[in-house]
Amino acid sequence: MTAPLLRALAGESVWPPPMWLMRQAGRYLPEYRAIRGQSSGFIDLCLTPVRATEVTLQPIRRYGFDAAILFSDILMLPYALGADLRFLEGEGPVLKPIRTPADMAVLDAGRLLAATAPIMETVSNVRAALGPETTLIGFAGSPWTVLCYMIEGHGSKEFAEVRGLAYRDPVLFAALLDLVTQTTVTYLSAQIEAGADVVMLFDSWAGVLPAAQFRRFVIEPTRIIVAALKQLHPATPIIGFPRLAGTMLSEYAATGVQGVGVDTSADPVHAAAAVPAHIAVQGNMDPLVLVAGGAAMTEAASAVLEAWRGRPAIFNLGHGIVPQTPPEHVAALVKLVRDA
Ligand code: CP3
Repeated sequence: MTAPLLRALAGESVWPPPMWLMRQAGRYLPEYRAIRGQSSGFIDLCLTPVRATEVTLQPIRRYGFDAAILFSDILMLPYALGADLRFLEGEGPVLKPIRTPADMAVLDAGRLLAATAPIMETVSNVRAALGPETTLIGFAGSPWTVLCYMIEGHGSKEFAEVRGLAYRDPVLFAALLDLVTQTTVTYLSAQIEAGADVVMLFDSWAGVLPAAQFRRFVIEPTRIIVAALKQLHPATPIIGFPRLAGTMLSEYAATGVQGVGVDTSADPVHAAAAVPAHIAVQGNMDPLVLVAGGAAMTEAASAVLEAWRGRPAIFNLGHGIVPQTPPEHVAALVKLVRDA
């Protein structure tokens, strides 16, 4: 028996579509907050296999989603390379910015596998705990989005420092892009070897780029990562999520991925037409309508389901679950999708 989510990523129109939700493990769940409270911080939680395993499994036990996603963060890669990273309560991630060759010298690709060994232990623990019908998704940030945080030093609307550096010092920027691209291959390959059935690339800030740079900083590194992973693990499907890609969605779909994540802003009918019929679409209900619930949610879920009907697809949100989401609304959404 092949798991429903893997069938969708193999190009099959599975109905009702398999589902999981971005950030399905997190602060909206009381059982997550309990374990988070026992950890000395978010990084500590990500690097403690028993706790990270438990937190990964919590939403599967509660809702029976078709996929578990490894509990970790896209910034664990730069952290493992030696970047100075902290998660500040209520502020999100803060990194010591990398903007010069001297800053870059603190990064050491040689540390990656030793530093991420606890994450690989979590992957194998989770895989061992799941039934064959549930797919385990490993992930990394896409090089562009990881560099957004590494160079800017924190979240931003425009990422002006990162985009400025790419224009001002293309040589340093290219070296950083190459380092993150190559280490992402090593990191995802290790997750697959540890037991991840699928890997996903989160490109949350793809949408801040003009078209020419979208091709060089989003599409090209994605192609390189996909090609390298296909060489090492030809059977492992890859999902790419180029958030706010807009009109670049169909070009992105040609990077070799088996699934394309569609963000909240996209018309799902347009996205279903822009992504070729052998590639699964994944998304894209508004996370805020999940907070509202009720008739608004029923209508929003139906619109996505109708757009996805008859083609390979995975039901998801268009971005991560927000902390104020009532857990019972998630249960109601699962029922809506399962009854479709
Ligand atoms: O359940 C899952 O989806 C798996 C775990 C996961 C997390 N982050 C856990 C997390 C995944 C896949 C991510 C990806 C991630 N992390 C992205 C890409 C997706 C997106 O949301 O656009 C990005 C940009 C990050 C970086 C990051 N991590 C930010 C900006 C923040 C702060 C914002 C916030 O929600 O607090 C984090 C922290 C973070 N990552 C939390 C969780 C559960 C909250 C930390 C806590 O518990 O204190």
